[in-house]
Amino acid sequence: MVAGASEGLGVAFARHLAAREMNLLLIARRADLLEKVSGEIRQRYPVEIRCLVQDLGDAQLAEVLREATEGLEVGVLVYNAAYVPTGSFLDTDPESLQQLVGVNVQGPVTAVRTLAPGMCQRKKGAIILMSSLAGMQGVPRIAAYAASKAFGTILAEGLWYELREYNVEVTASCAGAMPTPGYLRNFKQDAPGMMDPSTVAEMTLEALGRGPRFIPGWVNRIGALVTTRLISRKSAIQLMGKSTGHLQ
Ligand SMILES: NC(=O)c1ccc[n+]([C@@H]2O[C@H](COP(=O)([O-])OP(=O)(O)OC[C@H]3O[C@@H](n4cnc5c(N)ncnc54)[C@H](OP(=O)(O)O)[C@@H]3O)[C@@H](O)[C@H]2O)c1
Repeated sequence: MVAGASEGLGVAFARHLAAREMNLLLIARRADLLEKVSGEIRQRYPVEIRCLVQDLGDAQLAEVLREATEGLEVGVLVYNAAYVPTGSFLDTDPESLQQLVGVNVQGPVTAVRTLAPGMCQRKKGAIILMSSLAGMQGVPRIAAYAASKAFGTILAEGLWYELREYNVEVTASCAGAMPTPGYLRNFKQDAPGMMDPSTVAEMTLEALGRGPRFIPGWVNRIGALVTTRLISRKSAIQLMGKSTGHLQ
């Protein structure tokens, strides 16, 4: 299952999972894009694909997922979707923040809580929560998004420990910048260590089983080392604030 699979990194995950001969359940809100992605993958790989048009921030998500996965053994869950409201916190309308909590916080909790029991019962499975370097310190102008990514990373770490006795691997992938449609809508400039989404998806799948937290790309790993270990917290936040300065 790839939650958030109509464009960007989610499509790259879907392609790499199909290349590993896994059938797909793709979720997103835009039915036309989901159909396009599934059509393209079906042409290249002999896999079965189902699409679910669904808002992952919906309060009924657990029920919808239970229904959509009835009779299926979901072996890999990639929770990829995220909502990124940009600009100052005070100028962000409360509905946007509510949506962020729904998609970035409530969504992964619900998806994991719904699908992990089956994996644990079968003693086999993998869960990837897509996170971000933004979740490693406060980030001005995407403050709530960064906080939601910290939530995802920490959730994955705890679950990595809890679920390993059931042979279910959990990893948070803390990616740096990728030129996806979502990124290009919000950010006007390239960032250091920018990576291709396909490479990030492939590296993340390869990293399963190697630990609770993975940072794709050596430039990003060095960046994380600098901001979390080598400079003060205050300096790290100020540095982030400079990089998001254009998001007024
Ligand atoms: N791009 C980057 O630079 C970057 C860096 C670090 C981490 N990440 C993380 O990587 C992941 C993917 O990022 P991306 O840049 O590929 O995002 P994107 O281009 O904006 O794509 C997001 C995907 O999630 C789906 N989605 C968003 N809100 C949804 C909702 N409410 N319900 C269902 N589906 C929803 C979108 O489909 P619909 O709109 O059709 O619903 C789309 O398929 C995110 O978790 C992000 O935090 C990205």
